[in-house]
Amino acid sequence: MFNITILYGAIREGRLSIRAAKSLQNALTQSGRANVTLIDIKDYNIPVMEARLKDMENPPAGLLEISKALETADGIVFVTPEYNNSYSGALKNCIDYFTKEWAKKPIGICCGSNGKMGGVNASNLLQLLVLALGAFPMPYKLLVPELHISLSEDGIPQTEIMQKNLDRYVNEYLWFVEAISIQSKKV
Ligand SMILES: Cc1cc2nc3c(=O)[nH]c(=O)nc-3n(C[C@H](O)[C@H](O)[C@H](O)COP(=O)(O)O)c2cc1C
Repeated sequence: MFNITILYGAIREGRLSIRAAKSLQNALTQSGRANVTLIDIKDYNIPVMEARLKDMENPPAGLLEISKALETADGIVFVTPEYNNSYSGALKNCIDYFTKEWAKKPIGICCGSNGKMGGVNASNLLQLLVLALGAFPMPYKLLVPELHISLSEDGIPQTEIMQKNLDRYVNEYLWFVEAISIQSKKV
């Protein structure tokens, strides 16, 4: 079993991209190969980053909790909506707090939008961000177009193509996590 942490970064009232995070949580759990922790940044009231966690004297308990969930993970998935052709500011702000937590981690990317493009611009930029963290971005990404049509509120795929893309993504992701884990002599 792999420990997988999903870091989901939209805090907007009425956010639709929570559906994408739930769909991945469901699908990875149903694979029977992953213990999944979903970190919903909205639950943590994280302030704008003024100091990295490692430089804080009295870090908030929430940041320590997220740090542990990232550090103990065999693999991480970033889930974000596309805002202004990029990933959400809330996700980036959270990411900036951490350092050693990312080292050599396999990181999957899932982006969503309410339009037809499924957050492709955000996903490309997020792959570059993962490189800056000293982590490995998975080449294959999960893009969710028309979030309100593709997924139910519980994250259940509502179209054949969404189901197919989700299944393929989970297969690819678990392969990727296993490959890096073997290299890191964790398996
Ligand atoms: C500030 C803001 C900027 C946005 N920019 C884009 C964009 O560049 N491309 C796009 O496809 N959708 C864009 N959208 C629409 C989102 O894709 C849409 O809100 C979708 O439901 C995912 O975001 P949500 O999780 O906040 O609902 C934007 C939405 C907001 C609130």
